[in-house]
Amino acid sequence: MAEWQDVLRQAARLGVLQVHLSGGEPTVRRDLEEIVATAVEVGLYTNLITAGVLLTRARLEELAARGLDHVQLSIQDVQPANADRIAHYEGGHAKKRELARWVCELGLPLTINAPVHRQNLDRLPDIIDFAVEMGAGRLEVAHIQYYGWALANRAALMPTREQVRRSADIVESARERLKGILIIDFVVPDYYATWPKPCMGGWGRGIVNVTPSGKVLPCHAAETIPGLVFDNVRDKPLAEIWLRGQAFQQFRGTDWMIEPCRSCERREIDWGGCRCQAFAIAGDARAADPACVKSSRHAEMVALAEREAGAPPPPLVYRRPRKPASLAAAESP
Ligand code: SF4
Ligand code: FES
Repeated sequence: MAEWQDVLRQAARLGVLQVHLSGGEPTVRRDLEEIVATAVEVGLYTNLITAGVLLTRARLEELAARGLDHVQLSIQDVQPANADRIAHYEGGHAKKRELARWVCELGLPLTINAPVHRQNLDRLPDIIDFAVEMGAGRLEVAHIQYYGWALANRAALMPTREQVRRSADIVESARERLKGILIIDFVVPDYYATWPKPCMGGWGRGIVNVTPSGKVLPCHAAETIPGLVFDNVRDKPLAEIWLRGQAFQQFRGTDWMIEPCRSCERREIDWGGCRCQAFAIAGDARAADPACVKSSRHAEMVALAEREAGAPPPPLVYRRPRKPASLAAAESP
């Protein structure tokens, strides 16, 4: 715990303003309360990003008492059976509903995060209603980005272009209707985009990710890119890693860029898009993100999305075997 307290102090000194306690699942940590208390003490805004299935009311009350600022809860659907199937967690949706109620009863701000894809997108209006019913102030409707495990399930999750267009219309009209009640963030899927998003706000520009083992990453998926050297907070000060670490320097700014990014007028708008996606699709992390219409791989990426979305979805591939609710309850702290 002393190590984490030190890292949080270093982060605050470095100018970090917010800490997002994420995972995996952060509530499996027995020392989460102390981590939150230290972050609060050093002046960091604390956001707990959770699947919500392991938290008890008593523990949430304790976290609130230690000064937790915000809870972000992910949901997979609003139909319990489909939500539990996608999450691979029996009884999970009921637990999430309960947690959302507790969060609001304790007066904590709540964001609902809804990753959307072809297996839940048709219920987007119900997902929006659910967020309002749960008392959330913000809803993130986030089309899946296909890195890591989502990449392995891409064919099962890829929506059609028409589904994506409809989802944008639904979000637009809900934003209008729910002004002052619910803020809706909308993340479009890269595969149907014209321009890429500035992934991570630009590599090494504003986000530093520290893993449970102390490894410091410029992006949660950065380890998928070969050749990067990740320093550890156990070996070096966080400021030194942030300012001079090889992994951070590799794609920081614009010097690393090759064409078409190098001479592109958008290079300081999207910073070349996503390095992890460039490597996953184009095989070169310096290449333009294939989501970009200027990328030589863009047409191929769109064709791939259309082909996968047009075929019947294959079964989902899960990371872990299904966990029954009874076992999950027994594991709760
Ligand atoms: Fe962004 Fe590179 Fe595409 Fe220009 S060419 S829009 S910098 S990804
Ligand atoms: Fe790593 Fe986009 S996910 S840079």
